[in-house]
Amino acid sequence: MERARPFLDQILISADRALRAVLAPAAAGRPTPGSPAAVANDTERRHAAGLMRVNHAGEIAAQGLYHGQALVARNPANRALLEQAAREETDHLAWCEQRLGELHDRPSRLDPLWYAGSFAIGALAGLAGDRISLGFVSETERQVERHLDGHLAQIPESDARSRAILEQMRDDEITHGRLAREHGGAELPLPVRQIMSATARVMTTTAKWV
Ligand SMILES: [Fe+2]
Ligand SMILES: [Fe+2]
Repeated sequence: MERARPFLDQILISADRALRAVLAPAAAGRPTPGSPAAVANDTERRHAAGLMRVNHAGEIAAQGLYHGQALVARNPANRALLEQAAREETDHLAWCEQRLGELHDRPSRLDPLWYAGSFAIGALAGLAGDRISLGFVSETERQVERHLDGHLAQIPESDARSRAILEQMRDDEITHGRLAREHGGAELPLPVRQIMSATARVMTTTAKWV
C-alpha cells in the first residue's frame, strides 16, 4: 500500500501540476482522434474555434478539479482513480489545444482563473470525504456529457476533426463517471447539482469569447 506523501511534498507537486496545466503545452498519451482537415469556410472555422475554446477551458477546469481532489483524497485507491482520470483529461486538454491551433485560434485568456477556481472547488469536494468527492466526479461527468452532446449538435458539419475529438472525450467522461460510482460515489443533493451547473455555465459562456 502506498504511504501518504508528506503534505509539503504534495503542495509542491500541486504547484508543479498547476503551472504545467496552465502554462506548458499539454502532452497527450494517446493519438489525437480524427485527421486534421480544414473546415469549409471562415464562418464555420470561427464558430468551431469558439466551441473548442470552451472545451479547452473545460479541460483546464477538469485538471484543476482532479488535482484538487487528488491532493486531499484519503483512500489511496481513490487517489489512484482520480490521478488516472486526470491523465485522460490531459489527453483531452492536449487534443483541444491542438485543434484550436489547427483552427488558427487561441485558448481562453482566463485559463489561470478556471484552473484556480476549479482546484479550490475540487479540494473542497475532496475534504468532504471520498464518497462525496467521487459523487462530485460522477455528477460533473454527467453534466460534461450533456454539455458535449450540445456541442456535438452545434459543431459545423465540415469539422470532422473536432467532432472526433469531442466524441472520444464524451466516451472517456462517461467512463470516469461510471468508475466514480462503482468506487462508492454518492448521489449529490439537488441544490448542489444546481450550483455546479450554474458555475459551469459561467465558464462555458465566458470562455467562448474571453
Ligand atoms: Fe475531459
Ligand atoms: Fe472527465
